[in-house]
Amino acid sequence: RPLDFSGVWRFRELLPFASDEQIVTIGEGQTMLKTSQPVARYVGVNDDGLFLQYEGLNPSGSFKDNGMTAASTHATMVGAKVAACASTGNTSASLAVYASVAQKFKVVVFVGSGKIAFGKLSQALDYGAKTIQIQGDFDDALARVREVCQTEGIYLCNSVNPFRLEGQKSIMYRVLEGLDWQVPDWIVVPGGNLGNSSAFGKAFMELKALGLIDRIPRLAIINAQGANTLYQLYEKEGLRWNGGRYDRDRSSDFFTKMDQENRRASTLASAIEINRPVNFSKSLRALDVCDGIVREVSDQEILDAKAQVGAGGLGCEPASAASVAGARLLREEGVIAAGDRVVCILTGHQLKDPNATVAYHSATDEHLDEKLMNHGVNKTPFSNG
Ligand code: F0G
Repeated sequence: RPLDFSGVWRFRELLPFASDEQIVTIGEGQTMLKTSQPVARYVGVNDDGLFLQYEGLNPSGSFKDNGMTAASTHATMVGAKVAACASTGNTSASLAVYASVAQKFKVVVFVGSGKIAFGKLSQALDYGAKTIQIQGDFDDALARVREVCQTEGIYLCNSVNPFRLEGQKSIMYRVLEGLDWQVPDWIVVPGGNLGNSSAFGKAFMELKALGLIDRIPRLAIINAQGANTLYQLYEKEGLRWNGGRYDRDRSSDFFTKMDQENRRASTLASAIEINRPVNFSKSLRALDVCDGIVREVSDQEILDAKAQVGAGGLGCEPASAASVAGARLLREEGVIAAGDRVVCILTGHQLKDPNATVAYHSATDEHLDEKLMNHGVNKTPFSNG
């Protein structure tokens, strides 16, 4: 049955808001959890202690499909005629494919100018979404789309949409399933708009309350250094959920200062180039539930980690590799122990952003070039054109 084929809806008792006939699905969530010996060694844990959750295997090539199947289902339930999102590329690709499958609502996508990897842009266009490039970056695009949705009565599909997060809980169900429901020690996830982290916290809270797990893994959220709002507020300023009474003045002061200084996010991991995460407060709750920790990693660390993931099999896009780079850092710090079982979430497919991959490998094999030239092989250098 189609619903049992979906890696989201076969868990539908845990996200019970739609009847079976209402569900919009294209078999999302047929993803897998795999150990990777090369990546385990890179991170510094036992060979069988590092697991990669390949969410790039979803129909549109990213984890977003887990959430978008749920949001699109809800959009059709409420009779939405138009749905919209701001995006660094994956959300828009995912929303566009679900709209083309549902044939019930049109899609408008807002992207920052020059801020989207071509693989992702091409998907939104091909699936027939109206794609609008706005002046500014993702944070500007999200602010604009929220305004427009509010005034025009358009259905908003960014991760402020709670139905998105319901679907994204299933990533954790599948991870646990892959581990025969043995709870790992760590879940490591890249942090952008913080939808995944928030959904994961909610998933674990509910599973524990239902008695399906007896303990909750620790959550590590990894920011890119150039887009590190959560790292700043959680690790540097020490902001904590505090039963929902967290110090909102401190966070709003932080954002006001960010505006005054016109501080913009900047990272090669374009998917997580975000300074104003919409799920900030929900992520504080997730960090509380999961005894969480936040780290930042540099673009170089992200790209080095990404190359290890690729060489170990399957591969991922840059933002995804922040998880592996973060796990390595936490292992170096001794926060993760050599014997821990660590799950890194690979959020997007390798082919999403080929330019980043080609540029990295063109720049890093100088010695190989020399050796090849000794054998009369003269390589034409690739360029990031
Ligand atoms: N990894 C990838 C590949 C992403 O596309 C995103 C977010 C994230 C990680 C961050 O996830 O927001 O749940 O913390 N991409 C959004 C987009 C912003 O528009 O596609 P998060």
